[in-house]
Amino acid sequence: MAGAADLDEDRLTQLALNWDGLADEYAARLGDELSGKPFDVEWLAAFARAVPAGGPVADVGCGPGHITRHLAGLGLDVGGYDLCPRMVARAAQDAPSLRFAVHDMRAPLPDAGTWGGVVALYSLIHLGRAEAARAVAGWARALVPGGQLLLAVHRGAGTHREDRVFDRDVPMAITLYERDEVASWLHAADLLVRRCEVRAPYPSEFPSERVYAWAEKRA
Ligand SMILES: C[S@@+](CC[C@H](N)C(=O)[O-])C[C@H]1O[C@@H](n2cnc3c(N)ncnc32)[C@H](O)[C@@H]1O
Repeated sequence: MAGAADLDEDRLTQLALNWDGLADEYAARLGDELSGKPFDVEWLAAFARAVPAGGPVADVGCGPGHITRHLAGLGLDVGGYDLCPRMVARAAQDAPSLRFAVHDMRAPLPDAGTWGGVVALYSLIHLGRAEAARAVAGWARALVPGGQLLLAVHRGAGTHREDRVFDRDVPMAITLYERDEVASWLHAADLLVRRCEVRAPYPSEFPSERVYAWAEKRA
């Protein structure tokens, strides 16, 4: 599979700076996005029902924390992790009762083997291909038996570049993944694949197809 080499530290620093500058805009534009995304709402509800003992759950690459808040509203014990301090600060400001922390998803989650669930929606798009596979393997290790993993990425091959995000001159490159590649991470990590599907974009979204995957750690 072409493209998307591992990130070097300069690219990672630039990525963090770029997202930092977009944190408030992200919160304003997408804070209520789930109200127009019934597919995501249904998947999140099914995921939440399956998490053993209601958590703990890590929302990795949580951005401004709107998915974290939604999961908390479904009764999960959930915290959010993100590379960008400004995203974390914004998420904490909007949900002071929830836990948020700066964390690079290329590193293992703290408290390995204790997580009832890991959610990573549109955050693996910022890793290189091999890094993404390693991150998923690490999350599989972090889960308790019966623990649940939920992923979403933009579908495609190679990488996609934008010069502007949210109408601002912020360059952003993302890694695209085919459904079979996402499924291969789950199989390689010996997870039980519950669902792995492609959905079309909603009118409010960037016009890319998306891969959603839900897997469970074997008991
Ligand atoms: C497209 S946003 C997705 C946010 C949220 N999960 C959602 O679904 O709207 C991607 C997020 O991943 C974060 N991110 C990028 N690289 C990361 C890394 N190495 N570790 C943790 N978070 C990262 C970015 O800071 C950004 O907040």
